[in-house]
Amino acid sequence: MNVLLINGSPHKNGCTHTALSEVAGQLNRHGIDAYIFHIGARPIRGCIACGKCVQTGSCVFNDDPVNECVERLKNADGLVVGSPVYYASPNGALLALLDRVFFGKAAPYAFKPAAAVVSCRRGGSTASFDALNKYFTISQMPIVSSIYWNMVHGNTPDEVRQDAEGLQTMRALGSNMAWMIKSLAAARSSVPLPEQEPRVWTNFIR
Ligand SMILES: Cc1cc2nc3c(=O)[nH]c(=O)nc-3n(C[C@H](O)[C@H](O)[C@H](O)COP(=O)(O)O)c2cc1C
Repeated sequence: MNVLLINGSPHKNGCTHTALSEVAGQLNRHGIDAYIFHIGARPIRGCIACGKCVQTGSCVFNDDPVNECVERLKNADGLVVGSPVYYASPNGALLALLDRVFFGKAAPYAFKPAAAVVSCRRGGSTASFDALNKYFTISQMPIVSSIYWNMVHGNTPDEVRQDAEGLQTMRALGSNMAWMIKSLAAARSSVPLPEQEPRVWTNFIR
């Protein structure tokens, strides 16, 4: 069993990484492999809405980490998306990546447990947390919760390490993610997945 943890920050070993490492450590303690995927600091294009991925299952652009992320997520049992807060929102590069990882490609992600983690200096954490959770709730991904909303505070990794409550929230998230993944695996042979109706697509007209 394995969980993909996306670090959406341009800083490989910054505050977001510090939070995700705490989640990963707890997953490991419960016998679950954890892979932290750093999206890097190079440009990531926004979705151009060409719709090609609906037929192929992958993005037409191969010059950034999107398609690797899609493949890793298909092969993972769970997902944690970590983001720094930029102007009370997830950072732009991460949003560009997530739009393209999810648009037209999300069917294989259904029923994989998911969680968002945000890292901020001071404000905008819950707005960012809400924005990230929306990728999961439109994709039939059960959200894993913790003992508080999944946020850490600090402007440096050292400051994040002083956020004792934030780190405890990360550890509880790791434990709860491990429990949900194992529970779903145990249920797989006896509880069928929900039936899927043909999709209705109404664009707000009758
Ligand atoms: C462009 C930019 C905008 C930011 N906006 C906010 C903000 O709205 N609220 C906040 O608390 N911190 C804000 N910050 C601080 C980062 O969220 C904070 O330093 C973050 O924890 C860094 O994570 P990282 O080390 O993983 O990159 C901003 C930082 C940058 C670079």
